[in-house]
Amino acid sequence: MSKQAEIIIEGKSYQFPVIEGTENEKAIDISKLRDLTGHITYDIGYKNTGVTKSAITYLDGEEGILKYRGYPIEQLAEKSSFLEVAYLLIYGKLPTAEQFKNFDTSIDRHSMIHEDVKKILDGFPSYAHPMGVLSSLVCSLTAFYPESLDPNQTEEQVDNSIIRLIAKMPTMVAWAYKKSKGRPVNYPINDLDYCSNFLHMMFANPTEKYIVDPVVSAALNTLLILHADHEQNCSTSTVRIVGSSQASLFGSVSAGINALWGPLHGGANQEVIEMLDAIKADGGDVQKWVAKAKDKNDPFRLMGFGHRVYKNFDPRARIIKKACDDILGKLGVSDPVLDIAKELEHAALTDQYFVERKLYPNVDFYSGIIYRALGIPVNMFTVMFALGRLPGWIAQWKELRENKEPIGRPRQIYTGETDRDYVEMNKR
Ligand code: CMC
Repeated sequence: MSKQAEIIIEGKSYQFPVIEGTENEKAIDISKLRDLTGHITYDIGYKNTGVTKSAITYLDGEEGILKYRGYPIEQLAEKSSFLEVAYLLIYGKLPTAEQFKNFDTSIDRHSMIHEDVKKILDGFPSYAHPMGVLSSLVCSLTAFYPESLDPNQTEEQVDNSIIRLIAKMPTMVAWAYKKSKGRPVNYPINDLDYCSNFLHMMFANPTEKYIVDPVVSAALNTLLILHADHEQNCSTSTVRIVGSSQASLFGSVSAGINALWGPLHGGANQEVIEMLDAIKADGGDVQKWVAKAKDKNDPFRLMGFGHRVYKNFDPRARIIKKACDDILGKLGVSDPVLDIAKELEHAALTDQYFVERKLYPNVDFYSGIIYRALGIPVNMFTVMFALGRLPGWIAQWKELRENKEPIGRPRQIYTGETDRDYVEMNKR
């Protein structure tokens, strides 16, 4: 007999099935809970709530394990390309040479964006945050490809939207950056690989020849792979919940970009570098900032530290810390905040407050230092995270659609006023 969980409410016993994942994760299936008992579960922040069954990414926060479709993140970061990882996440298998060539060619073919997008871009002031610009541009694709709005579109049409989004995202990111600088935009060059093409669109100027540095391109490839998916989290679950209303891929991903923007999620990478700069400007006394982070009357948190799921170490942070030393060395860049970051990490990891709460550096702690060494400006860091996370969002949206998941609609415990009679106090 399959495993059951028993819940006893006011002396009455109810049985619920226990379901198990392929990596032995266990959940109590309470989908009939309200019907049977009249109760709902209360789990603010969804700390214990499984919202879906997913075959995309596996994460073990206690052991520091992260795998995409069964492949360890360490192997993919070392050996694969971002585009290959995108294919893996979205279609479930590593592509054969021919499948990869077709995928790559289709992406090249769709990397241009409609010229009218420039008019939308021009509507933004140059000081607009590029995350807001990016989410708007991604959503604007619904206007250029209205067939993407049809919930009953064919699989081929869905695939077209997927290819378009992967192909156009680097162009939109680079254009958002050029706009913020008041510089002319660059068009994609199809001969270049995905990362090199992106760097060209970001950094080439009409007045000088731009040659992509392979060290920079390889570093970008690693960072994008490390960010490509992270199972359920604030932005991914946003994509899924928006998609569950049968909203389009572009609309759902645009919502995901906004969810990623916040400082507790993807916005942390920008906050980390600003924090490290502030510590440096303040004289570099890391103990003072560790004390501030521990002080419950001070809203300051050590940005890039702590994670909802990782309670031992974040495997992405380990890879990034090592890559940070390698890349800065190869590029001959010395960033004084790298030393501050290492000192801060050491101070926090040996402090009882952080040890007790299992707070470790997360993916964002060192990524900003690398982005800065690659020439990416600080306000673009979260946009880079979005570029990396795109295949994950797409894969999760596609899976939700294929599984025909119902519309997401949580419940609540109402705590407001009960019945009151209206008393007229203001004339209509
Ligand atoms: N600095 C100081 N104290 C912290 C920190 C921190 N960075 N993170 C958590 N704590 C404390 C927190 O005050 C609480 O203490 P107490 O139990 O005494 O009230 C305890 O640790 C548990 O924290 P929480 O906020 O309940 O944990 P959470 O799982 O809700 O939050 C988090 C996880 C990532 C939002 C949080 O650790 C945080 O705010 N970190 C800084 C922001 C950051 O780096 N975010 C990027 C996350 S990784 C990238 C991504 O995938 O989004």
